[in-house]
Amino acid sequence: MTRREEFLVFGQPLIEQAEIDEVVDSLRRGWLGTGPKVARFENDFAAYKGVPAAVAVNSCTAALHLSMIAAGLGPGDEVITSALTFCATVNAIIHAGATPVLADVDPATMCLDPQDVARRITPRTRALVPVHFGGYPCAMREFGALAQQHGLKIVEDCAHAIETEQDGRKAGTFGDFGCFSFYATKNICTGEGGMILARAGDDRKRVKMLALHGMSADAWRRFSDDGYRHYEVEECGFKYNMMDLQAALGIHQLARVETWWLRRRALVERYRAALATLPLGFQADAPAGSRHGYHLFPILLDPARTGLTRDAMLHAMNLRRLGTGVHYRSIAEHPYYQRTYGWQPGQWPHAMRIGRQTLSLPLSPRLTDADVEETIAAVREILGRG
Ligand SMILES: Cc1ncc(COP(=O)(O)O)c(C=O)c1O
Repeated sequence: MTRREEFLVFGQPLIEQAEIDEVVDSLRRGWLGTGPKVARFENDFAAYKGVPAAVAVNSCTAALHLSMIAAGLGPGDEVITSALTFCATVNAIIHAGATPVLADVDPATMCLDPQDVARRITPRTRALVPVHFGGYPCAMREFGALAQQHGLKIVEDCAHAIETEQDGRKAGTFGDFGCFSFYATKNICTGEGGMILARAGDDRKRVKMLALHGMSADAWRRFSDDGYRHYEVEECGFKYNMMDLQAALGIHQLARVETWWLRRRALVERYRAALATLPLGFQADAPAGSRHGYHLFPILLDPARTGLTRDAMLHAMNLRRLGTGVHYRSIAEHPYYQRTYGWQPGQWPHAMRIGRQTLSLPLSPRLTDADVEETIAAVREILGRG
């Protein structure tokens, strides 16, 4: 068995000199909180997405929560989302006071299945929260049609999907809201951080205000050199604003988003070619005319085919000092949701199976070709095909 000397940390970000200099510049200037760098990052992100404006917050969880509130969701409202996602998607629905309803995923794309969504729509359904899983562009045409037919809001969970596109449109611009993550392992990172796109100008104003205690717009400018300005508290908001220290990272990370996407695409092609003959399952590639964000590269281990469980593979990779991830065990595997909603994993069989079989191989622009070859060799060796 080959063991690396240095542990390969899963999803380690690539931070370059420009980010370090920008953070140091913020520290020297002494403007650490929300300020001009956040405004610049918002403008750059909006330009990348081709929309008039974007609102920076301190996580995608905050972005989802504020979007749910601005969408008018609350007690008695049902919101349908994916049974295979990070807990934040479901928790944001709950924090807004609404009731989460899970639908199963399409086993090929790992994204919310529109047919299962249609089956779960009731007179109380108010919104859909599709997740572009791993960067795969989910079925926005179908969700748009369902939303129109039933008068539903759409909040896109784009935590994995900064670069994702479908029919020439960018992820986050299909729904009423699009929510992005810049968590440390994401395609670009600010440590913690998030961004909201809102189609309606009024919704943009509302989420911006809610992100900073419900204070009137641009309250952060009250300390600037053009004179003190009083602010008004318009509603009871949250402390979800992004800091300039975070935006200092984001500005330079965003400038490399396309170069890094190309690198990750090349890594995915290498993985696919090298692992194609092994008895593994893979997520489908994006259909023609659309674009995968290549955030994750999941492999599925069906013990009946591999003679090996996912957890045995996780352990064996770890022994070789290769960090991998699990995205995700299905929502209904977790005790809180079982206790609160009486959910059992078997109610969403595709999400359950994928959640029990999936393992994410490292996929980051920080990886060297040697890291990728070692990862491939380890998977082959563990499966007895070395
Ligand atoms: C699908 C999905 N949604 C939401 C989130 C929450 O993002 P954040 O950590 O920025 O709050 C994540 C983070 O991993 C995620 O993977």
